[in-house]
Amino acid sequence: MCGIVGYIGKRPAVPILMNGLKRLEYRGYDSAGLAVIQNETLWLTKRKGKIRGLERQISSLNIDGTPGIGHTRWATHGEPSKINAHPHTDCTGRIALVHNGIIENYRLLKKQLQAKGHVFQSETDTEVLVHLIEMFYKDDLGAAILKALQLVEGTFGILVISLYEPDRIFAARRGSPLVIGVGDGEMFLASDGAAIVEHTRNVIYMEDDEIVMISSEEIQARNLKDETVIKSVEELPFDLESIQKEGYAHYMLKEIREQPRTTLDSMRGRLLLEEGTAKLGGLQNVWDRLRKSRRLIITACGTSWHAALIGEYLIETLARIPVEVEYASEFRYRDPVLSENDTVMAISQSGETADTLAAIREARCKGVLALGLCNVVGSSIARETDAGVYLHAGPEIGVASTKAFTSQVVTLALIALALGRERFLSAEDGRSIARELKSIPEKILGILEHADYIRTIAEKFSHHHQALYLGRGFNYPVALEGALKMKEISYIHAEGYPAAEMKHGPIALIDKNMPVVIIAVRDGVYDKVISNIEEVKARGGWILAVVNQNDTLIRERADEIVEIPVTANCLTPILTVVPLQLLAYYTAVYKKCDVDQPRNLAKSVTVE
Ligand code: G6P
Repeated sequence: MCGIVGYIGKRPAVPILMNGLKRLEYRGYDSAGLAVIQNETLWLTKRKGKIRGLERQISSLNIDGTPGIGHTRWATHGEPSKINAHPHTDCTGRIALVHNGIIENYRLLKKQLQAKGHVFQSETDTEVLVHLIEMFYKDDLGAAILKALQLVEGTFGILVISLYEPDRIFAARRGSPLVIGVGDGEMFLASDGAAIVEHTRNVIYMEDDEIVMISSEEIQARNLKDETVIKSVEELPFDLESIQKEGYAHYMLKEIREQPRTTLDSMRGRLLLEEGTAKLGGLQNVWDRLRKSRRLIITACGTSWHAALIGEYLIETLARIPVEVEYASEFRYRDPVLSENDTVMAISQSGETADTLAAIREARCKGVLALGLCNVVGSSIARETDAGVYLHAGPEIGVASTKAFTSQVVTLALIALALGRERFLSAEDGRSIARELKSIPEKILGILEHADYIRTIAEKFSHHHQALYLGRGFNYPVALEGALKMKEISYIHAEGYPAAEMKHGPIALIDKNMPVVIIAVRDGVYDKVISNIEEVKARGGWILAVVNQNDTLIRERADEIVEIPVTANCLTPILTVVPLQLLAYYTAVYKKCDVDQPRNLAKSVTVE
């Protein structure tokens, strides 16, 4: 979603801002803009469409001023257009502001400001902020921003520059992340460390309700009650290399191929083979409470919600603790019935998804233990939960989540194993699952060797307009995830279903034009899935089956098969999802789709 960058120092701001905006492209956006202070004027440019267009537009201009701020916008209030793109300015054109988040009471504020004579240019909620600052400005910009923010409801991460105080940038946040990069006589700002990591790894994370004045040499932080706040410098937990494509055509392919390493990283130091259990340092302080939970509610969105569904199967099977899985967007608004013996766990790659964050806040308000499974270190969910586990999958740039998903399932398997061993699971069974977990990275590597074959299947897929994905038990959520991957990036309508439910509706759609992907590994429901395959075949459907190596029964029935190595039933999702990720990827490539930045999607959904 929207991205923010800022720079103050000795160098011209424009190249640094443009570069930072490019690094944020992966998050999804529809327009972009910059504002820079140059020779005592506020220079501003913005444009609908890709950053490349903006770059062409300014390439012949000689703008070498500083400080500057930049923004990529993902439209919420008002269509994607030049006028609605950020930065926005006040009536005098002396203050410029970029904003991530949503100002919920903007209509009322806009009316009041218009009544006082302020003239609005855009349809955005954001523009009220800059007019409020203008209204409050006397001779102290920080004080005016503070007063303005005290009036707004909603979420914001903002940067402000002004001709009134041209040697500083102001930043403030509530609910939308902002990080300050500390350089040598220069400072960088961004909504995501990826935008600044090539300049510095020394960063200061801003907290909610903080407002910070940044010059090239110093930082002064206050909270919205106007009290001084002391900030400390931390190290960004990734480097430039980890956010580059490294020769791959797309980030998504790179991230699919990284999975042997990333799943291993998620297990590293946590899996205890001899004892047949796992140890998760981040949960130690709350372990006793978690272990005694009467119920676990896992809440998430998108791909993370699919991982949560697998978590439900894993934890119920191995630890016999009842688990419920809730879309975070539903959980937060339905006044859920929670008791003190419940635990709520949020799963989020970014750690910033607005609904998941709100769900965690709702849980904490009700006094239950709140846990987080996040990939992004220092993210809002990671910081606002009582305890949690990092996935250690490294930065995920492709909008369609792949390596984060397998790391989420690995991490959930570790939690289920550790809980299970303290409840019902024997040491022998624990050791067997631990051994299987250890062999997962090697097995993923084996599946990746079939990539060329999967590419040939993808070519056939690319001519279709719809597809059905079926799975049962542990692999039902994988059917959902496979279908989601396909529709996200190739725009082929795909639906995931529990295989047996096919008879209650989707079977009406089956004919030779409906490819059906069936996950049919040898687990407890293998025979049942074979019956489902027969039902599809009897209606002329075309079948791609994901099967175990050396399967003969399904080979005879399916049109195409992809083989995966055998593992413990409960761990099969970590393997079965990999061919489906590749299938979606190559199908999108055949269809010439923008794989890493699919239309209308955002990597991190920071608005509800
Ligand atoms: C967006 C992304 C998905 C992701 C979902 C949840 O929709 O495009 O890939 O699964 O948000 O994101 P989270 O960061 O909370 O896992």
